[in-house]
Amino acid sequence: MHYPNPGDMMRRFPVKGFPFKGMKAFYQDFRLGIVGGGQLGRMLIQACPNYDVSTVVLDPSGVAPCHELASEFHQGSLTDYDTVYRFGKTVDMLTIEIENVNVAALYQLEKEGLPVYPQPRVIEIIQDKRVQKQFYRDNNIPTPDFVLVENRADILQHAAFLPAFNKLGKGGYDGGGVQALKSPEDIDKAFDAPGLLEKYIDFDREISVLAARNSKGEVAVFPAVECIFHPKHNLVDYLLSPSSASEEIQAKAEAIARRVLEKLEITGLLAVEMFITRSGEVLVNESAPRPHNSGHQTINANYTSQYEQHLRAILGLPLGSTAIKCPSAMVNVLGAEGCSGEVRYEGLEELLKIAGANLFLYGKKQTRPFRKMGHVTILDEDREKLIAKVEQVKKTIRAVV
Ligand SMILES: Nc1ncnc2c1ncn2[C@@H]1O[C@H](COP(=O)(O)OP(=O)(O)OP(=O)(O)O)[C@@H](O)[C@H]1O
Ligand SMILES: [Mg+2]
Repeated sequence: MHYPNPGDMMRRFPVKGFPFKGMKAFYQDFRLGIVGGGQLGRMLIQACPNYDVSTVVLDPSGVAPCHELASEFHQGSLTDYDTVYRFGKTVDMLTIEIENVNVAALYQLEKEGLPVYPQPRVIEIIQDKRVQKQFYRDNNIPTPDFVLVENRADILQHAAFLPAFNKLGKGGYDGGGVQALKSPEDIDKAFDAPGLLEKYIDFDREISVLAARNSKGEVAVFPAVECIFHPKHNLVDYLLSPSSASEEIQAKAEAIARRVLEKLEITGLLAVEMFITRSGEVLVNESAPRPHNSGHQTINANYTSQYEQHLRAILGLPLGSTAIKCPSAMVNVLGAEGCSGEVRYEGLEELLKIAGANLFLYGKKQTRPFRKMGHVTILDEDREKLIAKVEQVKKTIRAVV
């Protein structure tokens, strides 16, 4: 029991229907701790007041996107044991919005009785791409072939494995710990740190399947979302929901996602990124145990948003319908190239005139090139019109200085 004050006990005793013995109900002044205060946390916070849940956020930045929205904001490191441990002692339940956190502190908090979801065990598996990949292999979850490597010299020994992707075990984010090694000449630039080499997959499409599992083991899977790549830059251009992959492939992908959740026995939301090969194989690239960039559109376009679903899952509540209300697309608003400093948005008025375009800004006052400043979710029943609107949105809004 982590509440030593007996005077508080009555309030904290179980309420019928709430699954955690010895805990107050989520609607009774319940403090949900969120480790990480970025845009994913910001949108998770926005789902909380409807459940009368108050939010307590930890982030190293005093101007983090959650700063002004959290019921209570703590500034501090996510990777420091004492900071995370002490933060955990102030809340009734802990969740994360980024996986690069101090897991030892989470284990200790869990041991002392604090519900921590996703479980520290799951975060630990996913935090290190080496462990994560091995987990897929051990559980017969299809994933591109890989070898573990300790350093650059080790990669030289595996030159025959190229072309491959070289991925850092820990610490990579938003593509920062990933690079393609096409031929042995590229090995000079390989990461000189523990990581892996993963076979280069000449994929037909890249999709993402979000799913949630609650503490009773119920699973709900969202329809697959597709990343549409820019034909010239080979960067993700926008996301489309639902994916245009065949029903058979989507069903395969959804079954694989379900399997990953069940094997992980995760409580919470999991985003499973996958490759669809040209021969119709579905391979898991990686997973994230939290709300994900590929699920923003669920706020407007699905019966239940990914954020509310995560909340339902960790609170042990029935999961919501994942069905799509309307086809949608999501375009990131990135800081314009060559612009650093206090942000100014161009084209806002024009953007807001586009029927079905929904603006989400992340509260970041400073822009820099390619920084994720916000996104736009676009809804349209008609796929062609939807894609035309995507092009219109991309031309309209700009984060400049
Ligand atoms: N084996 C592979 N074959 C082909 N492309 C790959 C491979 N691995 C990664 N990629 C490409 O690189 C992108 C980033 O890789 P990955 O998802 O592993 O890294 P990340 O740093 O976790 O990225 P993010 O945080 O953006 O999801 C993938 O979305 C995919 O487009
Ligand atoms: Mg990824």
